[in-house]
Amino acid sequence: MKVDVILGLQWGDEGKGKIVDKLAPHYDVIARFQGGANAGHTINIKGDTHILHLIPSGIFHEDKINIIGNGVIVDPFILNKEITELKLKDVDATKNLFISKKAHLILPTHRVLDGIYERTRGDAKVGSTLKGIGPTYTDKAARNGIRIGDIIHPSFSSQYIALKEEHLRISRMFNCNPDDLPIDGLPFRDYEARWFDAIDRMRGLHLIDSEFFINKCLGENKSVLAEGAQGTMLDVDFGTYPYVTSSNTICSGVCSGLGVAPQMIGKVYGIIKAYTTRVGSGPFPTELMDDQGDLLRVKGHEYGSTTGRPRRCGWLDLVAVRYAVMLNGVSHLIMTKADVLNGFECIKVCKHYQINDQIIDHFPYCVIHEPVIPLYDELAGWKTDISRIEKFKEVPVEFMTYLRYIESSLGIKFVMVSTGSERDQMLISGEHL
Ligand code: GDP
Ligand code: IMO
Ligand code: MG
Repeated sequence: MKVDVILGLQWGDEGKGKIVDKLAPHYDVIARFQGGANAGHTINIKGDTHILHLIPSGIFHEDKINIIGNGVIVDPFILNKEITELKLKDVDATKNLFISKKAHLILPTHRVLDGIYERTRGDAKVGSTLKGIGPTYTDKAARNGIRIGDIIHPSFSSQYIALKEEHLRISRMFNCNPDDLPIDGLPFRDYEARWFDAIDRMRGLHLIDSEFFINKCLGENKSVLAEGAQGTMLDVDFGTYPYVTSSNTICSGVCSGLGVAPQMIGKVYGIIKAYTTRVGSGPFPTELMDDQGDLLRVKGHEYGSTTGRPRRCGWLDLVAVRYAVMLNGVSHLIMTKADVLNGFECIKVCKHYQINDQIIDHFPYCVIHEPVIPLYDELAGWKTDISRIEKFKEVPVEFMTYLRYIESSLGIKFVMVSTGSERDQMLISGEHL
């Protein structure tokens, strides 16, 4: 058996949660491989909305194993909150949830540092979710971090104090006292006390060597689905650096974030929204600053699942998506939020950029320093509401033209198209599933 992968090809929020939930019945194991609670993965089941930040999106299927892999960074406070909220909805997330001992811990002071660094950047701020992502991955790479496996070791308390002291020294250099920066609305000390309560609860969860666990599953012919967070254009190496997150969001992150060898990667499902959104700062060539952008935001309910911030909206950018397809080796394409384009007279798609007098097809380094002009093709919109359609053969011809146009630009076929936020609002190609 191989590990199939689901990941976003844009700047995040492509609808990964919905697709993982939809595909989960076909797998034995669902595993997150990177990121932390900066992610917000929404799943709508019979009118009930669930937003997951850390727990894999397979959790609503009772018999599935869910793994938080070594490449993820975990805030115990947020994990505990998520488990408690799921319990209120009669979902016991603890029974089938397994956490890698090698996953790093997000300390309360990591979140304080995130706030300090963002404030210091001023106008150049990244637009971080302020969940402590950057400082925690920094400590991991600097070999200062604390891992989940450490919480059951007697040295945990002294490790915590040493790292917290280090963070406080840095805070003082920025003339900042942690008490000045409340976390999730709580004064630092209250948050820290709850964080320690959550550490106690975490000791009772299944803490495992997930690399052995997953490889054993594969050896026993169990199928594994790796769930990406964020999107390719937020990858720390290949995204619009420095306006990125701090992990490898691309397919290679599955190998390092779960401990599986490259030849064990199977299908790579790449998800695109029918248009583009971005939350936070940084280049966004096809961004619409006009009524059309506002219309996409309103029709698509484009407000962040984690922070509630309005998302920036624009037309589909095939230059960026082509780049993402290359980096990830996408084998299967999925579109979400196609219904949001219902009723648009004309739909634009960017196929090239112009820089000065030059027309280019690749995503350029300089996008971070100078604006690029998106060059658009225009396609006819459709009048029919596609959110109630159940079969590909029933979709309006203009919508099919839109899909075929994208497929031929990317050289890959759509296997699923999501036409609404509910679990069952999905067109699935005949040969697939
Ligand atoms: P993720 O982070 O990639 O899982 O995506 P988010 O959950 O942050 O954002 C996607 C949003 O779009 C959520 O509110 C979903 O409920 C919603 N959604 C997903 N698929 C569709 C779709 O096909 N149509 C519509 N209208 N909404 C969708
Ligand atoms: P999902 O998994 C969209 C963005 C932030 C910010 C930048 C860095 O739901 O698609 P960080 O908190 O990592 O320091 O933020 O990345 N960002 C996301 N944008 N979806 C996400 O996750 C994101 N996670 C981080 O807005 O611009
Ligand atoms: Mg999201």
